[in-house]
Amino acid sequence: MSNAAVLQMKGICKSFFGVEVLHNVDFGVDKGEIMGLCGENGAGKSTLMKILSGIHAQDAGEVIFKGSVIRRNATPLEMQRVGVSMIHQELILLNELTIAQNIFLCREPRGAAGLINFNRMNEDAARILSKLGEKIDPKRKVRDLKIAQKQMVEIAKAIAFNVELLVMDEPTSALTGKETKILFDLISSLSAQGIAVVYISHRLKEIIDVCHKVTVLRDGHFVATKNVADVTAHEIATLMVGREVKESKASDFPGDPNAVVLEVRGVSDDLLKDVGFKVRRGEILGFSGLIGAGRTELMEVVFGIRKPRTGSVFIEGKPVTIRSAIDAIRVDLGFVTEDRKETGLVLCRDIVDNANYVSWLKNPGMFKGAKATMENTRRIIDRLAIRCSSPAQNVSNLSGGNQQKVALSKWLLSGAKVLVLDEPTRGVDVGARQEIYQIIRELAAEGVAIVIVSSDLPEILSICERVIVMHEGRITGTLNASELSEAKVMYYATDV
Ligand SMILES: Nc1ncnc2c1ncn2[C@@H]1O[C@H](COP(=O)(O)OP(=O)(O)OP(=O)(O)O)[C@@H](O)[C@H]1O
Ligand SMILES: [Mg+2]
Repeated sequence: MSNAAVLQMKGICKSFFGVEVLHNVDFGVDKGEIMGLCGENGAGKSTLMKILSGIHAQDAGEVIFKGSVIRRNATPLEMQRVGVSMIHQELILLNELTIAQNIFLCREPRGAAGLINFNRMNEDAARILSKLGEKIDPKRKVRDLKIAQKQMVEIAKAIAFNVELLVMDEPTSALTGKETKILFDLISSLSAQGIAVVYISHRLKEIIDVCHKVTVLRDGHFVATKNVADVTAHEIATLMVGREVKESKASDFPGDPNAVVLEVRGVSDDLLKDVGFKVRRGEILGFSGLIGAGRTELMEVVFGIRKPRTGSVFIEGKPVTIRSAIDAIRVDLGFVTEDRKETGLVLCRDIVDNANYVSWLKNPGMFKGAKATMENTRRIIDRLAIRCSSPAQNVSNLSGGNQQKVALSKWLLSGAKVLVLDEPTRGVDVGARQEIYQIIRELAAEGVAIVIVSSDLPEILSICERVIVMHEGRITGTLNASELSEAKVMYYATDV
């Protein structure tokens, strides 16, 4: 044990319903150290950290924190008291409470008579948020926040109290440029104060940028711990998957430029300013831009979720009015939303229900007991390599990346003509990401028009045949794959 070790986990084993998901895992972090934790979807990263933070109890093995052995059944509140704080992969804020109430939940500042001191609570919340560069009113309800803001509230909650080890489970998957930079500065300053950080991410470049060391898990086993200075992102990916991962690069759209499937014209409202675009049969079109550029809002207009002041939508040249998700499904439009927990999945249902949901709506002949339903489900589990114990597993028990694959699968089984994917690989590991890209390409080859909204530039570069860049509600540039570079996209995204 190094003198500086703040945490040591030794020989950790954990099974769920008889399936072992962690096998004899060793993991340690020193004071002030920033440790990356990597592995494929379902490798056991979140589970290991949930054991540390008191959510799960290990079946075997020992957790030693600041030199003392932690009681096996320690609760999350006990672990918080000794200084372990965790920011969860799936946001767990209470929508009906205010930002400040969420930050101080169960730990509210109280006055002499034992009553909650709301003024102090709101002031403290505002102070922590401003440290994170957020100027939101702490008295606002969490339900009204955008997903990136919710993520910042989770971070504020985690650092509001004395913390000696902070676990961040994919903190940036909902963030882009500016917030990520603020977060990285925060992590560095925590580390300089001697606070240890465990940083889980599928964005390997971030691991290289922000961490001192990285530990890789594969299939519940410890693979290696390396100094970040000694490895490349490519080598980490290889350790994660156990084989070489090839990066791809898109080329220009080869199909018929006149075969327009979806056209959007002249959309304007408070945010969007005269936006229009076309996507063709078999084309993979990307939308890039910073948070707040209006990409998600534009897609919401297409799907009738948002009502614009002006604007129209055409499918194969015919004007359509879409007022609800059902209307969209009827004209063969599919939408994979960015917030899988709120709108993408029915968490309390199993994989079969979630994967077949859309095809059941369209197709009264299909139902849960139908043979084709089970065959389709098994095929999709195979095709997307969804890691699960069976098709009857509840979606809420799947690892984050596997949930994303299920959210995608219901549209793959639906026979859509146009598929809009908002952040399709958020939280998906490098290997599975390439599988999803491959599936997107296959769908395009079958004639499906694909629209991808993504904040991940390498993702845009590796699959999109054409990219539209937006800035503050306007389209600022359109680029073909052959003229595409990160620098050009950033140029239009910031509209310098
Ligand atoms: N509460 C639970 N009940 C049953 N199985 C579970 C539960 N929690 C996790 N699992 C299973 O344990 C395995 C590891 O999951 P975990 O969430 O730790 O993966 P992960 O490495 O965090 O993946 P990701 O990158 O997708 O977030 C998965 O196969 C998952 O289905
Ligand atoms: Mg996880």
